[in-house]
Amino acid sequence: MDGEVMRTPLIAGNWKMHKTLTEARELVKGIREGIEGISGVEVLICPPFQHLLPMAGAIDGSPIMLGAQNAHYEPQGAFTGEVSVPMLKDAGCTHVILGHSERRQYFAEGGPLLAKKVRAAVAGGLNAIFCVGEILEEREAGRTQAVVERHISDVIRADVPAERLIIAYEPVWAIGTGRTATPGQAQEVQAFIRSMLASTYGQAMADAVRILYGGSVKPSNAADLLAQPDIDGALVGGACLVAADFAAIIKAAGIRAAASS
Ligand code: PGA
Repeated sequence: MDGEVMRTPLIAGNWKMHKTLTEARELVKGIREGIEGISGVEVLICPPFQHLLPMAGAIDGSPIMLGAQNAHYEPQGAFTGEVSVPMLKDAGCTHVILGHSERRQYFAEGGPLLAKKVRAAVAGGLNAIFCVGEILEEREAGRTQAVVERHISDVIRADVPAERLIIAYEPVWAIGTGRTATPGQAQEVQAFIRSMLASTYGQAMADAVRILYGGSVKPSNAADLLAQPDIDGALVGGACLVAADFAAIIKAAGIRAAASS
């Protein structure tokens, strides 16, 4: 660990396919109230596509940023059901999640496609939150580092601007299962990711890229996870659907940021 490089923590909420519009408005209202007075943390919500525009209105005047959960790699064209990077920018997005394990598992997304998506996102001016992580069998076979390294090297090209790239380490066995990686397990993999970024893309990239942890992050475990030197924030699923829980996680990140500044 470098000990000197300061990275602003990012707490991102991945809403997945949840919330009606009325519920979404309620949630954002609750988050806005819950995070009042918290500083030093970037806060991001990633609602389903069709809520993006109304949520852009709902976060107006607050520090909350808006992201999407997926994007197509072409700016426009005959791709029924898809949404492009320029459209996301139009809707007020600054970020997009790419390569989430659910996209990999249920929609057959893999390295070549994700390489195009990450390239399109950063070229189009979005920050890409690129997800990596092993399934349980891979962890048990001792292949975690090899899997994570392959996920990154298949997709991340040397010319990706570090300030537009965020990596989310999400062990698949910890997503939505209540089974969180221990802070030590997450830190071990995230330190490996950072050292791999340094050796493959250079130290400047490794220092600048934020690495989030995701997988059953909740108010009760957030502080311990965020205290790890290579955990620069969290990608939160289930707990981001409850305003008080999401705000509590953001607060834990704010306390950590204040302590290390
Ligand atoms: P979870 O989801 O917090 O519900 O485990 C995390 C994610 O899938 O990003």
